[in-house]
Formats: sequence, C-alpha cells, structure tokens
Amino acid sequence: MRQNRLLNDGWQFHLGEIEEPMKTVRKAAAIGGLAAPLENEAGDTVLIGAGGEHFLRLIAQGDREKGLRMLANTALESELDEDWVSVDLPHDWKNELPYVNDPDLLMSGSKPDGIAYYRKTFALTLDEVNEKQVTLHFMGVMRMASVWFNGVFLGDHYSGYSDFSFDVSELIRIGSEGVNVVLIKVDTTKGAEGWWYEGAGIYKDVYLEIKPKLQIVAEASFIETTEINQQEALLKITIGLANHHFEKKQKITIKSQVADQQNIHECNVDPLATTEWSYCQKICAPQLWSLENPHLYQATFQLFDGENQIDDYQLCFGIRTVAYTTKGFLLNGERKELRGVCEHQDFGGLGVALPKDILRYKLLKMKEMGVNAYRSAHHFASKDLLELCDELGIIVMNENRILESSEWRTNELVKMVKQTRNHPSLCFWSLCNEEVIGHTPLAYRMAQKLAAVIRTHTSQSLIVSAELLNPAGQVDASYMRIFDVNGVNYPESAVNGTGLVAVKEKYPLFSYLSTESASYFSTRGVYQDNSEKCHTSNFGSLYSMVLPGKRKPEEPGTGGTAKPKEVLRYLEEHAYMGGVFLWTFMDYYGEPAPFHWPGISSQFGITDTVGFEKDSFYYYQSRWTETPMVHVFPHWNKEGLTIDQGVTEVRTFSNCHTVELFLNGKSFGKKKNDKDGLSWHIPYEPGCLKAIGVKEEQTIEATRKTSGPTDSVTVKERFCGADYSLFEIQGIDSEGIEVPTADELVAVLVKNGTILGLANGDPADLDGYNCQEKKLFSGKLMAIIKKEPGKVPLIQAALKKGK
Ligand code: GAL
Repeated sequence: MRQNRLLNDGWQFHLGEIEEPMKTVRKAAAIGGLAAPLENEAGDTVLIGAGGEHFLRLIAQGDREKGLRMLANTALESELDEDWVSVDLPHDWKNELPYVNDPDLLMSGSKPDGIAYYRKTFALTLDEVNEKQVTLHFMGVMRMASVWFNGVFLGDHYSGYSDFSFDVSELIRIGSEGVNVVLIKVDTTKGAEGWWYEGAGIYKDVYLEIKPKLQIVAEASFIETTEINQQEALLKITIGLANHHFEKKQKITIKSQVADQQNIHECNVDPLATTEWSYCQKICAPQLWSLENPHLYQATFQLFDGENQIDDYQLCFGIRTVAYTTKGFLLNGERKELRGVCEHQDFGGLGVALPKDILRYKLLKMKEMGVNAYRSAHHFASKDLLELCDELGIIVMNENRILESSEWRTNELVKMVKQTRNHPSLCFWSLCNEEVIGHTPLAYRMAQKLAAVIRTHTSQSLIVSAELLNPAGQVDASYMRIFDVNGVNYPESAVNGTGLVAVKEKYPLFSYLSTESASYFSTRGVYQDNSEKCHTSNFGSLYSMVLPGKRKPEEPGTGGTAKPKEVLRYLEEHAYMGGVFLWTFMDYYGEPAPFHWPGISSQFGITDTVGFEKDSFYYYQSRWTETPMVHVFPHWNKEGLTIDQGVTEVRTFSNCHTVELFLNGKSFGKKKNDKDGLSWHIPYEPGCLKAIGVKEEQTIEATRKTSGPTDSVTVKERFCGADYSLFEIQGIDSEGIEVPTADELVAVLVKNGTILGLANGDPADLDGYNCQEKKLFSGKLMAIIKKEPGKVPLIQAALKKGK
C-alpha cells in the first residue's frame, strides 16, 4: 500500500563544476543533458510528441536535433567522463579531502569548500507506481542543492540541516519509457550555516515514497497528550487526509486504532484538497513515556473506499507531559535534572555522513555516562536522532537557531515542527543560540513570531532560548517573556557568565536553564600540555580560549570556560537552573581551540571524535550514575607523565563510598570518596596502579599497568549495529599489556565488509582520510565498517613495522 524505496546505492559523483544545467525551459521537459537518460541508458533525452516532431523538422529542414537545439535550447551532448566516480550514500566529500593550512578554514575544519554533482538512474514498473503518489525525499544535503529530474528542474534547497522533498508523480518514467534520472548540484561555496565543520554532499538517505493518491498525511496526523492524572491520560488525536486524485472522493471511511480503542469516521474530500478529523480519547492506566521506561504506543490509521482498503499508516507516539517552573524541568509532573550534552553531528573518519547505527552508538555512549538530554547543536534534529531518542529515553532540545522570521525560514520551521511533533523525546524547541541581536526590539518581534508558529502547530514542546548574557545582566524582560524557559550559555563561566545572578535577582519569576556549559578541553590519554602537538592535559590544561599562552590555573577561562567540577558545583548552588547541557559530548571537526593549525578538531569533547573516553567522561559518570564505578588516571608509562622529585599525581573518580589506591600491591591509604574525585601524590615506580572502590557490599577496581614497547595490536568489536560495526584496535606489548602511548602505523583489512573510515581521535591528525592504514593515537584506533548483508565482518590489523 505504501512503499519506501531507498536510493542510497550506486550514485555517480563529480567533484567540481560542470556546465550547470538550465533551470528555465523554452519547451516543457526539455532540459536534457545529464538531467535525462544518456546514450547508453534506456529512454529518450527529450520526449517529443507527434506535433513536436513535425515542428522540429519543419524549422530545421528535417534536422530533428538541430530543431531541438534551436527551439528548446536543449543540451544534447552529455556524457560522464572519467572524473565521475561511483559512490554510495551517505556521503561527505569534504571528509575525503586533504587538510589545508588556511586560517580562514580553521574553524570549519581546514578543508576547502566546493561544488559537486550527484546523478542517479533508476527504473520504475507500472505495478509499483500505478495510481500512486511518488515523492522524492532528500533527508540531508550539505548545502545549497539544485535538483533536476527527467529533464525538469525541480527546485533549490538552501539549508543543509532540513530535509526536503519533491512530488514527482507525473514526472516519472514508467517501464518502457526509460530510466528515471536524478541530478543534483551541491554547493558549499555560497556561505556557511555554522562556524564548525559542516561537511559537504548528500550525507543522509535519499528515498522514493510511493503511496496511495488518497492518503493519510503524516505531517498532518498527530497525537497530543492534553492531560495526565492518576488513572488516565487524555489524548487529542488529529488525522490529516489528502486527495491527490483529480476527482472528488465521497464517503471515505477512516478507521483509527489508538491503544485498544477503535474509532470510525466518514468524510468527503475534494480533488487536490486536504481535510482533518480530530477527536479526544481517554487511555486508562497509561504507560507513560519516561527516561526510565520510554514506552511508545502505536496508532494505526486506515482509509477505506467502501470495502476497499486504500491506505494504512502507522504512527509511533508517547504519552507524557512537560513543564518548566522556577524550580526546573518537569516530565510527567516529576522534576528531572537535565543532564544534557550539546552535540554536533559528525564522527571521526566519517565526517557528517553518519548512518543511524553510528548515531545509536553515540547515544548509547552518552547514556553510559548518565546523560538524559541531547541538544542538537546548532541545527534541526534529524529524523534518525529523534527516533533513537524516543526509543532510548533521551530528551531532545531541537534547534531552530537562526533567529530570522523571513518567509522561507518560517516555512522551514513550520515544516520541521509538523514533521517532528509526534516524537515524545522532543521536549524543547530552541529558537536561537547566542545571536548577536538577542534582547533587541528586532529579536523580540522575530522571536515572538517564531514562538507563535511553533505553538500553533504543537503543544508538546517547551520553547527555550540560548543566550550569552553580558556581565552587567542587561536583558529585555519582554523578550524573555516569550520563552517558556530562558536558556543561558555558560552561566558558570567567570569570563562571561556572571550576569545571570543579577538577572535572576531582578526577575525571580522567570525560569532558567544552562543551555551550554564547560567547553572544557582535553586530549584523550594525554597528561601534559603540548602546544606543538595541540595536546591539552586531562589534569586540566593551562591554556585558555581567550588569552594567549599558558596561564595560571586559577585564571578565568583556563582549561576551558569552566572545569567539570565547577559546572556541577554551579548547578548545585543554582538548582533553579534545572540542569546543564555540556559543550560537547564528543570532539568534533573544526574549532580547534585553544590551538590553531595543525589542530583540525575541537577538544571540548568528553570523548574524542570516535567515542573513546577521556578522563572527564568518568567524572560525569561518577556524578550521574549509581552502578559502582571507579576510574584511575593517568596511565602508568613514565613517558608523558610529570614526575617531580620522584613523585607524581594520581586521581580517581568514583561513585563509591571509599577508594583505596595501591601501587604494586602497596596501599597508599583508603580515603572517603569526594564527589569531585580524589587526588594522591605518590612516588612513581613502574608496575601496576590499582584503585579499589567500595560501595555498600560491592567492590570494584580499576588498574593501569606499565607496558613495554608496542609489539602488536588487538582488535575487538566495540559496537555491533544492524548494518555497521565499530572495531577498536589497541596497541599491546609482548606480554599483552595495553600500550597507552602507542602511536605506530597500523594496516587494516576487512573481509565481509568495507572500511568506511579509520580514525584515532588525535586533534592534530593531518593524515586525514585513509581506509587502509592509520596511526594509533594514545594506544587506540577505530575502524568503521559497513557490513556485507548477512555476513560477519572479519578484521585484520597489524603494525606496519619500519614506518
Ligand atoms: C559557544 C557556541 C558553540 C561553540 C562554543 C565553543 O559559544 O555556542 O557553538 O562555539 O562556544 O566554546
């Protein structure tokens, strides 16, 4: 009845400009060229009817081609030269380019912008599309996209962060008419949308949606929780219907099944018109969507023409309420501290071309640390992200960010709100991030409009801002009144956050939330700052984001905007903030603060670019999770440690009651745990460092062993998704002990799969894209594998000696 046909495989790709096809035509469907079938592809370049054929010959003395060129200005000679290569989606061509040392490109990841074309052909049978509506969906293209289909220009799309689609029902070629051709020009040279690495290309799915012409409309069908009390939940159900037939449809029956209740409604729909049916329903003893038990309900909406079933649409939804008070965030009436992270959408080795599996890995890693909220910084949250957060019980703050109410941006927002409003995880819509116009009359007028637009289409999310306050705390109260909650970025920062206290004093009845915090930098596995290598210490860097050179530890802005413990202390002391969104969970490409070139990725992450944990991961885990854990650092290889007169510092993070530290079996005492971690100064001696934590009756330990030189590598599957897997490659010595400082070159091969990328998390890894070999960094390397369907990938990794 409905079918989604994925068009991800077998695209032709050309990096660089070619002659751009026309966007206007003299004669219908006559653009031709690469936007139509080529010589070796089934179908005519331009379809010419009987009258047209006659006319073409008439004006060009019988020369049909000449006539076509003269009359229709059609491109006829086109071919795919050797510059065209074959690619599968998702694809980020920037990821594959070498790094360039250009200060103008530093923030965006030191790779040049460009233009590229993608082209794909596919056949359709009459069985597939007869009497159906056919829509071509692009889930994400970075950035400006121009799309042609079967010799027709479909349109332009401007944003790399919103999906877009075209109804091609009448434009398709069916069966013997020939193949269908999609041509898309992608251009990142006309300006950026962000100040970080954004990638380039068709980086999300492309698919054809084939559905009945009389249909349930997904974006117009939604279920809202209007009230929950002890026994029951009250829902408002709206079902949208569209008739894409050219005649009126009478007495259409809609059957809806929501939880255990069925409802039936009859209606007429005019040709090319839409209609809606809304009703309320009670659900007794509902299973609420919560962080602990993210229960999802399924609703089914069916359409019947007499006895004939025409459409069948399934919708997932959750039953929950959200609110925000001066005391914080309430989910189903219960206060929940938001333990959030901000996150960009890239991943080491892949750029922004992230399959859903890899996104799942990211989210599971976050949950392991105790995260319960995700801020999709700084752009619209993708469908994949929302689906996963619904399933995993993670609250999403979706971002509109660009605070402009121009018609096209407002339309984009409306589209995104309608598409996403059934996701129970979507609890916040953010309108802006540190916009320089914040708190001005212009910002007030535009925010008012955008907030009204969101509230018109959904009652299920709270509207939030994300502002930098000035130290004097000058704000505009009428602007603040627009939001359900006023987001403040870096309130704990001694550099730019002090204004909040004054604001809170003046406006105690507004609600506040820390929408961005910490920006604390560290390099995985590194315990000394080294500006040449762009490395920052996990003991706390002495570099600053705002001032040059090494600073004193107590100077504001040293080591980031604030240290993790300062962030959580601020939250404890200002519990009305409701929670935090840490900047960021993973390192991301671009913004290599506090260094410049050869830094190519940020170091704000709590993990590196592929999710290998830095030490601060365990700090937050010790604060946000209950299962007994203990973490001890640094590593125990002399190289890279600071040893002063034989003594070095050891720290532990734990959620246990006591922690005891041992070196080679000798105890350095059992200490009552401190929630911010413990610090020990002990004589350095190679061997085995061990921390033992005790929580009630449970004992847990962590060890660090001194290793010899790297002898070989181990490979273990770190994450197994449905179609993609991640393999962790670790350098070990001849005794099998992990080498924490290993940096040797490793060659990697895979059977039953394809290596999509190799990445080591080094913030200055200029070796870039390579799917055969890469160096270990701080002992580790990640291989990202696309699996052959139904097969188990086999990875071989070996040191490339002599390099
Ligand atoms: C914030 C900004 C983020 C990121 C961060 C780095 O002000 O919102 O996008 O740039 O600073 O510290």
